[in-house]
This record gives sequence, structure tokens and C-alpha cells, in this order.
Amino acid sequence: MLNKLCALLLIISVFSGAPLYADSHKAAIASAHPLATAAGFEVLAKGGNVYDAAVAVSAALAVLEPFGSGLGGGGYWLLHRQKDGFETMIDGREKAPLAAHKDMFLNKNGQVIPKLSIDGALAAAIPGLPAALVHIAEQYGQLTLAESLSPAIRYAKTGFSLSERYLKILKVRAEVLNVYPDSAAIFLTGGKLPELYSILRQPDLAQTLERLAESGRDGFYSGATADNLVNAVQKAGGIWTKADLEAYQVLEREPVKGVYQGIKITSAAPSSSGGIVLIEALNILSGYDLQHSDELTRKHLIAEALRRAFHDRSLYLGDADFIDIPVKRLLNEEYAAGLRSSLRVDKAMPSELMSGEIKSQSEGTNTTHFSIIDEEGNRVAATLSVNFPFGSAFVAKGTGVLLNDEMDDFVSLPGAMNGYGLIGGYANAIAPGKRMLSSMTPTFLEDENHVGVLGTPGGSRIISMVLLALLDFANGHGPESWVQVPRFHHQFMPDVIEYEQSAFSAAELTGLSSMGHQLKPARYAYGDMQAVQLIKATKVLAAASDKRGEGKSFVGQY
Ligand code: GLY
Repeated sequence: MLNKLCALLLIISVFSGAPLYADSHKAAIASAHPLATAAGFEVLAKGGNVYDAAVAVSAALAVLEPFGSGLGGGGYWLLHRQKDGFETMIDGREKAPLAAHKDMFLNKNGQVIPKLSIDGALAAAIPGLPAALVHIAEQYGQLTLAESLSPAIRYAKTGFSLSERYLKILKVRAEVLNVYPDSAAIFLTGGKLPELYSILRQPDLAQTLERLAESGRDGFYSGATADNLVNAVQKAGGIWTKADLEAYQVLEREPVKGVYQGIKITSAAPSSSGGIVLIEALNILSGYDLQHSDELTRKHLIAEALRRAFHDRSLYLGDADFIDIPVKRLLNEEYAAGLRSSLRVDKAMPSELMSGEIKSQSEGTNTTHFSIIDEEGNRVAATLSVNFPFGSAFVAKGTGVLLNDEMDDFVSLPGAMNGYGLIGGYANAIAPGKRMLSSMTPTFLEDENHVGVLGTPGGSRIISMVLLALLDFANGHGPESWVQVPRFHHQFMPDVIEYEQSAFSAAELTGLSSMGHQLKPARYAYGDMQAVQLIKATKVLAAASDKRGEGKSFVGQY
């Protein structure tokens, strides 16, 4: 597809009589689907900038990866404008409906009702992705919203071929999708998995995208789409009202910033925990010479730094519009030094000495990330989600929109675990109109010579994946290497290091175990990192997609 697109650009150039590539520009895009990367280049070729490309890629992924993100979900877009250094984070995270309350997922005995915050209409929060696309196009784009949405509308109408990966993820949620006839009608064939390489067309979703293209925000948050959403949700036992949709607003927030070994880090601010946990863990690690440590010690220190940063996540982080987050303290280097004083280089610290209870951890393949940079250094890192694969599995009749199940990212009961095994406290309790805490970590890195843009899906493990990639950047490697780094993860509770098979040697497993670490192999390789890089002096671009997924990265001229 990308080859075809490049051939097309070449043909246009030849037939228009324009000198080939005179006045041309270069950009790098890495996304989780080849057609989404192509959508980005399509709008760049129409005269769009990286922000228009971000709108196009986001909308295309909503069509192509309904299990990862979509109009029924939300996300974070980190934007950098090179000419004046302006940086912002678009917070398009979903919000709890106005009728939500802190005990809404508990039974009369005060216990969590299993699955109620994961499957079906009650699990769905008010979507932010459509409002974010409108905002980015209006405030930062050069093209109209309709121009940037056009590839996604075409993909929804003409369809795309279902890959092995798509079907593998669909299988995980097929049973729940089958409960909802409007979902099963789109994603299943006679209640069963569709054939490999069959074509998925989504005409209702195309119409919803067209309404958004024509009427902007009103095309989704009021009018026919809003009526359909609210009616369907209420009929299915959900609590959305039209007032919820009308009230939804995206926010621009100051990204969080840190420095690790001279590398400037710009990352996601609350309502995501991503940037704070990442920088806090790096601040702890900055007290050690990781480059000259033996591998066992290095991995132990990383796990211990993550344990402490995730502990603070559970205590302090939530929606900054509702609670006071001690951001300055959490990002303070002296504070990190204090945390280091409890860290032994030869021994694991049991999390139970810190607080909480230990239960097992569940896993998920969800969310999506893309990275874009042009040769000037303008850039976007965006991580988008519907939470669990195929979100709540509930499609609102007539919209083609699969709703998220981000309500599960709130703490339903302080001290209890959510679907990612994360625990939390009152900071992340449910409240009307509140954004639930996220782990999404779209990130920019910059040292003297390079700019990096990266991120990945993977629930709570997102943060450790970005941290490991950042340490690889610090070791002088490029994006091909960052996306392939073998992964391991600690999140304070459960007190266990989860690891990909290739992350530890047999000797390291023995060594970590004798230090007191619990170890659990991941059931499969996880994450789907998408990364791009600019070498500042030469303007050479590079891009890489995680081989664990089916994404496509491309450096192109337009
Ligand atoms: N829904 C996954 C996250 O926001 O971290």
C-alpha cells in the first residue's frame, strides 16, 4: 500500500510537470497498521502538516483496529511545534458520566461485581477521541477536518482485510461481542469468527465519521449520532445522557518534563500516570551507573525503581481536575534520592512492606500508539485506547461506534485491583465528570544530536516498555532497537516481575530469584511500540514498528 502511495506521488509529480521532489518535504510515521501509516502520508501529500497527519492516522486506526482505539474511546496526543518550541498535550481521555458514583460497580455488600466495569454499556465512559480530532484539526491543522478524515471514511466504506493478529484478538472478546447483536452483526459472521483475509466494511461507522467531518464536534456530541448513542446506552442499562455528551471538552495540558543523563523527556501529564511514573523511576535510576553495572544488577535496579514509582502511582495519581497531585514532589530529584535510600542493590524490597495486598494480574492487548515527525522536527506522539480489546464490546445501534470500557481504569474499591492488576486509592475513585487514571505514555526524547518519538499499547506495562526503550536510546541505539528491546515489568502490586522469555538469561532468573524477586513469564510477547527519530544535524529520519505487531513505519518524501 505504501509503495503504491509513493508510486502515486511520483506519478502526480511527473504528470503535473513539477520538478520531481523539488520543494518536497520528508516525514517519518510509525503506526500499528500499514493503512493508517498510508493515511498519514496521504494527507501530508495534500499539503497537510504533522497534526493533520495525526488526525488522519487516529481516525484510520479507529476503523482498522477497533480492538485498540476508536471514536468510542479516547487518548493523549503530545504535540511539538519546532518553530517556537511550543509543546502541549491534548487530553482526550474519556470522562465518567454525570450520573456515575463511586459505588456503581459494587454489590450491596460492598464487593466489586465482576465484569460490570469491563463488559457492556455501564462500563463505557464519555468518549474523547472525536472531540480531540476536531480540536487538533481546528487549532493546529492546515487542512479541513473533512480532508483529514477522508482516508478513514474510505477504509470504513470499502473495507479492509482481516489479519491473523486481528482474528487472534477478536477471539478473546468474541463471546462478549456475541451478547450484543449490534456488535455481533459487525464483527462476527453468524456468531462465529470471520474468515482470515475476509473484508470488514463498517458503513454505519463511515456515516458517523461523515457527520463528524461535516459538522465537527456537533456531528458527534449532538444531533443524530448523540441521539443514537444515548438511546442505545440507556436501553442497555447504561447511564449516559445527552448532557454528558454536550458537556464533554478536551483539555490542553502542560506535558510533564524531566531529564535523564542529558536526555530531555517530554511525556504525558495527568490524567495519565505515564509521564510522572516514567520520570520518577528514571530519577531513582539516575543515582546508579547503569551502563557499567552488570546485567543482573541493572535489571534488579530497574524493577526496584518501577516498584517505588508505581507505589506512588497508587497513592497519589488521578485526575488533576479533581485532586491535588504533588507533581513537583514526585518529579523532584531529592525526593527520588529519598526513595533510593530504601533500595538495596542486592535485595528486593517486598511490596507488602510498603502497603496493599497481593493478587494475580490479568493481561490485555489493547490500545494503540503512533509516532510522527517531519524533517523540521515538528512531531506528534499519540496513544489512544478503548481499554480492553474491543472495549466494552458494546456497539451503539446505528452508529458503528464500539464503546470503551475505561470505567475499569477507575478504582471501583480502594485497594482492589482493576483488570490490569493495578490497585489504587481515593485519588482515582469514580466521580461524575472525572477522567480515570491512565498508563498511556506518549513520549518525546531529545539529546544533543537526536529527537525520538515513541510509545506503545499494553496497559500498565506501557510505562516499563517506554522506560526500557528510553534506556536503549541513552545507550546510543536507534528506533529499530528501541522497539525490539526484550521487556520486563514491575508495578508494585502484584509483587512480581513479569518478563518476556528473552528478557532474562537463566543465570539472571536465578540471580533475581535469590535477591527475593518473584518472577512470572509473560504468556506472550507484549506491546506494539511505534517509534521515529530525527538526527538533528543531518535531518536524517528513521522509523520502526515493533515486530510483535503488524505495524508499518515509513520515511517518505511528499
Ligand atoms: N486503558 C489503558 C490505560 O489508559 O492505561
